[in-house]
Amino acid sequence: MRALEGKHIVLGVSGSIACYKAVDLASRLTQGGALVDVIMTESATRFVTPLTFRNITHRPVVTDAFDLSSEMSLQHVVLAERADVIVVAPATANTLAKFAHGLADDALSMTVLASRAPVLVAPAMDGHMWQNPATFDNATQLIERGFTIVGPAEGRMASGLVGLGRLVEPAELMGHITALLGRTGDLAGRKIVVSAGGTQEPIDPVRVVANRSSGKMGYAVAEAARDRGATVVLVAAPTVLDDPAAIEMVRVGTALQMHDAVLHHSSDADALVMAAAVADYRPEAPADQKVKKKTEGWTLQLAPTLDILAAAARPGLISVGFAAESQSLVEHARGKLQAKGLHLIVANDITDPDSGFGVDTNRVTFLDRNGLVEEMPLLTKYEVAHQILDRVVEWLG
Ligand code: CTP
Repeated sequence: MRALEGKHIVLGVSGSIACYKAVDLASRLTQGGALVDVIMTESATRFVTPLTFRNITHRPVVTDAFDLSSEMSLQHVVLAERADVIVVAPATANTLAKFAHGLADDALSMTVLASRAPVLVAPAMDGHMWQNPATFDNATQLIERGFTIVGPAEGRMASGLVGLGRLVEPAELMGHITALLGRTGDLAGRKIVVSAGGTQEPIDPVRVVANRSSGKMGYAVAEAARDRGATVVLVAAPTVLDDPAAIEMVRVGTALQMHDAVLHHSSDADALVMAAAVADYRPEAPADQKVKKKTEGWTLQLAPTLDILAAAARPGLISVGFAAESQSLVEHARGKLQAKGLHLIVANDITDPDSGFGVDTNRVTFLDRNGLVEEMPLLTKYEVAHQILDRVVEWLG
């Protein structure tokens, strides 16, 4: 994963039942290409063994800053120096308090105190401990000092109670981590609007005219732009995908709602990437009440929708469109590139099973307004997204 490849991540783990989720997080980070150095507090080792993390990260695990028999003893200064980011997940109330008050009595608190890397803290604790004014003040101080605090989330906790105190899920933490790593990337200071998913046009209060877009390509573009430092607004038609971390979400249903949201948010944006499958037609007169079944057939009168890309085009806005085609790919894509005044169009053949709806890969052809045509190999949608953004960065100059 481009955002994680070769990055040094210190993963601090303190003593909570949520330690098992830190194992999943360590695995995801390692699989993404990061070099993960785990530092555990003494109480964390009661929940998960250091061996678990060592086997997952293939790197030594620090548990005791003063254990001279360990190859990692007194390494906290080295780890603190070379960390691109420090992630503390789960962070207990005690660990938060140590960070807030500058204590350095174990390897984790020493490392955090000694480092200039950004620190992401994901608290996990009993709901009353989180809501205690002492913890609240500690968290507030840390935020004021530039720490990123993610969560805790609401839900069922180990005590059986439901409340605020759960560790944020590893998948969501991943988004926050890549966002933090990319904060000074080549899109820092830029605003990018991305659309995703398939719009739904009501026939009556129950039925819609929809399409098979999963939203995965647009979400990947939004996440990749975030991971390069952009401020991202994701205008999303209905999908089953979870909201991505650190991205402003605008949920819409119809093509008209998407039109209004995209025009509003792109008015001060640097680039617009329209990955959404926008309905070209909508039922002309949606019924107020559910239409009852009859024996004869049913003819729907459709009216054209507005073309969003054409409406959003303005000097200074880099615009990228998609062309999902089942035949004459390059010819049709070139026609759309010109008709909509785009900088770049991303064409894909929807009859190719690797590039169809709902899959995680895509094989695309890029066509730009200078006449360039580039066929790309089969890539993950996240990597296609970065390829698109490489070209956006070039257009932005
Ligand atoms: N698009 C848009 N507004 C619409 C329809 C499409 O902005 N009302 C955008 C899509 O998000 C995509 C590009 O235009 O980026 C091309 O969409 P596509 O549906 O392939 O093209 P159409 O112009 O609708 O042509 P056709 O359906 O005939 O292939």
